[in-house]
Amino acid sequence: MSENIIYCYSGSGHCLNMAKTIASYLGDTDIVMMRSFPVKTDATEAKRVGFVFPCYGGGLPGHVEEYIKAIRIAPDAYKFAVEQFAGYMGCGLHKIDEIVGLDYWNMISNHSTCIWLMPHSLCLPPTSPEKAQERVNRKAVEVGLAVREGKRSEKKPPKKAFFAAESKAFSGMHSKRAKKFQANSDCIGCGTCAKICPMHNIYLIDTKPVFGSDCIGCLSCVQYCPKQAINVGKITEKRERFPNPNVKAMDLTKQIIHID
Ligand SMILES: Cc1cc2nc3c(=O)[nH]c(=O)nc-3n(C[C@H](O)[C@H](O)[C@H](O)COP(=O)(O)O)c2cc1C
Repeated sequence: MSENIIYCYSGSGHCLNMAKTIASYLGDTDIVMMRSFPVKTDATEAKRVGFVFPCYGGGLPGHVEEYIKAIRIAPDAYKFAVEQFAGYMGCGLHKIDEIVGLDYWNMISNHSTCIWLMPHSLCLPPTSPEKAQERVNRKAVEVGLAVREGKRSEKKPPKKAFFAAESKAFSGMHSKRAKKFQANSDCIGCGTCAKICPMHNIYLIDTKPVFGSDCIGCLSCVQYCPKQAINVGKITEKRERFPNPNVKAMDLTKQIIHID
């Protein structure tokens, strides 16, 4: 059993990259990917338990809320959370605080990965993807040091009730939107999309991906397709992809990543 556990959700690698940096400041950390549900819910032996996740539709992605509700944490463990978002933080941190009671929380704006809705350049304050990555790295170091020192946040994360409503509506829209996913003629049938889909919702038929309706909208398939052949309707055809440069598609399929 590792001294620290970080539960991480990541669709395009940015939160995983951040979790790894934070873990490198703590040592002896298991990063448990919340893309597979549930891999490890017994965290009772960990001294520190963290959550690193993106804002999706104003709230928590996929099954993250149910996952966190299932986790058992020792009463004296130190609990922290960090959220990435593009334009607004939503209610995810508040939700996690309600479930586990956070000692420390932080957040940072990164470029948007929700490219069917916004161009990838949405980030507050606006900057280049490279500078945004530097900013996220600095935040990861800040969090790593704060958690190592056992820092406590003075305030609770804000409730943001409006975003709780947005988040409910957003998760209900996924199956409708799932019908818009398609691969164009640039597809080489490599199967990356099928391998990384956390819902096992993509099948290859005659080497071409076919998309089911059990989609949670993470866009990993769109972001990590090596030929940028997967689109959500027409709008993503013109939009740049934004996967994290340090995280490979197959890293997202790992269930637990140990960092010493
Ligand atoms: C499906 C989806 C929904 C998103 N919703 C929001 C949102 O409501 N507000 C926001 O500011 N950013 C939103 N984002 C942007 C992500 O929070 C941001 O790009 C984050 O850095 C992605 O981290 P990841 O690469 O670990 O998945 C969304 C991204 C995706 C893919």
